Order: sequence, then structure tokens, then C-alpha cells
Amino acid sequence: MQKVREFHRQSIQDREAFWAHEAQRIHWETPFTQVLDYSRPPFARWFVGGKTNLCYNAVDRWLDTQGDQPALIWVSTEVDQEIVYTRADLSREVNAAAATLQELGVVQGDRVLIYLPMIPQAAFFMLACARLGAIHSVVFGGFAAHNLAQRIDDAQPRVIVSTDAGSRGGRPIAYKPLLDQAIAQSSHAPERVVLVNRGLAPMDLTAGRDLDYAPLRARHLDALVPVVWLESNEPSYILYTSGTTGNPKGVQRDVGGYAVALCASMEYIYGGKPGDVYFSSSDVGWVVGHSYVVYGPLLNGQATVMYEGTPVRPDAAILWRIIETYRVNALFSAPTAIRVLKKHDPALLHRHDLSSLDRIYLAGEPLDELTGQWLSEALGKPVIDNYWQTETGWPILSAQPGVEEVPTRFGSPSFPVYGYDARVIDEATGQDCGPNQKGVVAIEPPLPPGAMSTIWGNDERFVRTYFQSFPGRLCYSTSDWGLVDDDGYWYILGRTDDVINVAGHRLGTREIEESVNTHPAVAESAVVGVADQLKGQEAMAFAVLRNPAVLDESGARDRLEAEIKRVIEQRNGAVARPARILFVNSLPKTRSGKVLRRAIVALCEGRDPGDLTTIEDPGALDQIRDAL
Ligand code: PRX
Repeated sequence: MQKVREFHRQSIQDREAFWAHEAQRIHWETPFTQVLDYSRPPFARWFVGGKTNLCYNAVDRWLDTQGDQPALIWVSTEVDQEIVYTRADLSREVNAAAATLQELGVVQGDRVLIYLPMIPQAAFFMLACARLGAIHSVVFGGFAAHNLAQRIDDAQPRVIVSTDAGSRGGRPIAYKPLLDQAIAQSSHAPERVVLVNRGLAPMDLTAGRDLDYAPLRARHLDALVPVVWLESNEPSYILYTSGTTGNPKGVQRDVGGYAVALCASMEYIYGGKPGDVYFSSSDVGWVVGHSYVVYGPLLNGQATVMYEGTPVRPDAAILWRIIETYRVNALFSAPTAIRVLKKHDPALLHRHDLSSLDRIYLAGEPLDELTGQWLSEALGKPVIDNYWQTETGWPILSAQPGVEEVPTRFGSPSFPVYGYDARVIDEATGQDCGPNQKGVVAIEPPLPPGAMSTIWGNDERFVRTYFQSFPGRLCYSTSDWGLVDDDGYWYILGRTDDVINVAGHRLGTREIEESVNTHPAVAESAVVGVADQLKGQEAMAFAVLRNPAVLDESGARDRLEAEIKRVIEQRNGAVARPARILFVNSLPKTRSGKVLRRAIVALCEGRDPGDLTTIEDPGALDQIRDAL
């Protein structure tokens, strides 16, 4: 572990020299004058004065050496299509998209909201925004009208890019009606909506606002849009993520720091080099999709595979088939996907030639020991658990085989990555914990390049949300529990807050509760995350009705449960739909009115609810028990 430890030490002790060296990985149109400006803690500004551009570094920079090499490989088992875009093809498509946005009046600093499924146009428009210095806000396709409306209100996009439909399991999922509802609900109206028509679902176009992308693209296919050089700390994008309130936070990212951090991670963590093929099965709507479907591999001169489909269709060997066909070197997926594969015929793991594959990376939720070990043994490939967050944009904890090959341990995402001064802190005292002592995983600021610069439009919320968890100490809290063992291996032990993780999807229970509460029959509710064998966690809702007597009517319970589930689906999308909605007469609360979520979770998981001295009405817990 000598090398990896020394590398980490240098990155913290000699921060500026370390990152000045890494910054050479990208093209700077104007060199930076200062590596780090940390004069206003906790706000860190990296590569001050330097001018660069994410699109230039991901596309143009590689045209000479790799113009005819694959850059974006799109595989869709939903519509049975595969397209390989070379770097030159990618450049053409990105320029056409950029020229389109430009024609619609988009300039540097404008926001463009992208609500698209896993189709290449998602990457084209993200990179087109980057080229123009416009700020993209990609919204996960699995989210519904209410989520979308909140993001439209907060980001105030000039243009929205969307489509008629996505597809799941071979069935079209309409996007346009949800988008229309969201625009109607929000107080901000986009000037234009550009629609990629896939011909999967009928769609109504609003005259004067909605435009079909096909003729625009055709008109601009030979355009070459000049790159807008941006100061390193200008915003590149906003990506909303859930927290403890009903309002998601717009994680804002910079330009130069992000480009440098991602490029370095492609080599040190993901073991990649220019020309390699990288396959992340994440959706572009999540942070993994931003960093490791679109930007990371392309910035490092690698080809990226973008996959529209599930891991089990046409059969559970599809991931391995893609790896064989495109000679993929590294796969990035989520533990849930692997747990799903585990239930299928093991022979499928050996049907394809996986000789190109060096390693498999898993992240986004805890990787249980059994699943990690099963996969690694079945394939005979190293499986690397990496831990990070939307906020950081790239791994906080991971093995770093590009620095040094060190044995991994199942159940542990190994050690802090260079650049992160990671700690485990005792919440009560604000002091660092000793070995094997559970505390909150934290990062001593400044945060490294590539991590969030602030919350969009709300510096105060950034400081309050992330830097005020520990008494007397300005330190970034991840809101995850963790510990470090005697040998220096780290373990993540669950969230400290009300955020849950369903099949690798980060969801705020507060957002779901707000949706439950919009049902006219509901007085109040509590939504919790309960352990699930397959998905890691699943949401479970407990609702108190305004008039509990309605439950006496026959069939009322099922009808209400179905209605409330439908409300959630319409507002937050199917990903947020709880497994059950159960009805109780009161919720267990403290005397100060705080819902005792931990006690509810314990009961749901068949555990002892623990210390209940603060509970106001112990009978409320019995009701939860009975409802279960
Ligand atoms: O609770 C941790 C869990 O997912 C959260 C971050 O989710 P998100 O913002 O969607 O970013 C995902 C980026 C990969 C974390 O706070 N989490 C993420 N990775 C792991 C994890 N929990 C355990 N082990 C991991 N490897």
C-alpha cells in the first residue's frame, strides 16, 4: 500500500503542486495564474484565471489523432439499434446541436434543461451546451412532472430539449405529456422546446414553442460553432439531488477542475488510457452518467458505451455481449444490477469472450460482500467498489489500480482517493474517530477539483447543508456513517439523514411524503427506506388519514393505496413508488414533533426499535407493528 499512501499524502500536503501537475492533462487556451484560491472557505476555486472548455477537451482535442476511431457507441436493446459514432461523427453532431441552440438564442450562462432517455442526443446536447458555455441541467427520465417542474422553476432554462418517448422493457414511455404538465405547473416558461422525435409515441407540438429537431439538425449538420473559452470556475452544469427537504439541491459544477479531476480519475481509478473502451451502464440523468458515460471517458480520449436497455433483456448476458462486441476494457455498474444477474443462469456469465475486460467497478449503493465476491469469482476479474456522491462528482473512496494494485476487501470501498482529505468524525464532539469507531464520513476542505462549487443560486444553503454538521469545525459532511478498520480499509454504514437509495437511485423521503400528503384523504405521512434483498432499499409509506373511518368501507384500503401510489408516480415517477402504503392513526413522534423514522425502519426490518425514551405516544409504534 506504500505507493497509494504516498500518492495520497502528496495530494493533501502539497495540494497545489499535485493538481498543477494533473492540470497538464487537458488543454488550456489561457493558462491559469493560481492553482487554488481558498480565500473564502469553504468555497474553493481551482485553476483561477485559466480558460478552457469541456467540449473542446472531449471532442476537438482528439480529432487529429482519433477522428476515425469510435467515440460514442450507442446500443439500444429497446429499439434494437446500435450506432458507432467516431470522434468526427461526434463532432458533427455536437456542432449541429450547438448551432441549433445558438439559433434559438442560447448564449453563455443560459440554462438548457435536458429531459431525455439514454439516446446519443443526450450526450450531443450536453456537449453542445458545454461548447457554448451554456449550463445544462439534465433531468433523469424516470422522474415525473412535479420533479421536472421544480427543476424548471429553479434553473429557469431558456430552452428544454426532450423527446416523444423513452422505452422500458420494449414498451414506450411517453415523455412529452409529462413535460407539458411540468411546464404548465411551473412559474417559469421556457422560450423553446426542442424535440427529438423517435417515432415511439404520438406527440402534440405547441405552436410557437415546440420545434422538431430533425430539420434543425439537417440544416446545421455542417456547422462549426466556435468554442466559448470559459474561466475555469464558470459553471458547467447543474445536477439536482435529493436531501432532507422537499426541495432538491442544484449541485453546481465548474469547468476546469471537473475536466482535470475526471481525466485523472480515468487513469488512476479506472485504469484507462486513450483508445480504450469504457462502459458505464448508468443513466445520463444521474451523476455517474454525467461523469462516466459522457465526460470522463471522452475527456481522456476513450470511447464510451451508452446503453439503453435493462441488464436482463433480451437475456441476462446482454452486458457481457456488449463487452465482447465492442472490446470493452472497464465496466461500471451498480450493485443492484449485479444482484439481478445473480438470479439468472450462471452459464450466461461464460457465454461471451470477456478477455478485453480488465475490471468491473460498482458504485451508487452499498455493495454487499456476497454479491461482490460472487461476481469476482464467477468472472475471474477484480471488482472495485467505489464510494462517492453527486456532490463530489468522482470517487471519494476507491482502490486506485492506476496508482498501485492493492488487495481489495469485499464490503469495503478501500481507501480515500488522492485529493480527498477524508475523515470519520464523531458527530457529538467534532473530533476525528479512532480505528473501528463509527462516525460521519467527512472531507476536510478545500474540496478537490471537480467537486461541487456551490448550490445553484444559494451559497448560504451550500454552507449550511454541508459544512455545519460538526461543532466548532468547518468540514464537509457526506451524511454517511462510516468507519476505518485497523488496516486502513474504509466501510460505509448507511445514511445519517432521510435520504434513501432504491436500486442505486438516490431519493428524498421528504419529497415522497409531500406527494403522499397531496392526496385529499391524507392528513400526514412518514416515508422510510427499508432493507431489500435486491434493490438495497425500498420505500415504505405510513399514512394517517383525515377521516380514518373511511377505511371501514369495503375495498377502501386497496383503493386508497392504489390512488396514493398513482399520485407519487405522477409527481415523482415510478422510481419513487413505495412498495406499500400502510394506514395508521398516528405516527410515532418525539415530544418536539419529530417523526421517529429510525424506530419505524427498525420495526419494518424486524429489529428492536431501540431507545424510545423521547417518544410521545408509545401506542403509535404498536400501530406500525399492527399495520405491518
Ligand atoms: O449513501 C451513499 C451511497 O449513495 C450516496 C450518493 O448517491 P448519489 O448522489 O446518487 O451518487 C452516487 C455516485 C456513485 C452516498 O452518499 N453510495 C454511493 N456509493 C456507495 C454508496 N454507499 C456504499 N458504498 C458505495 N460504494
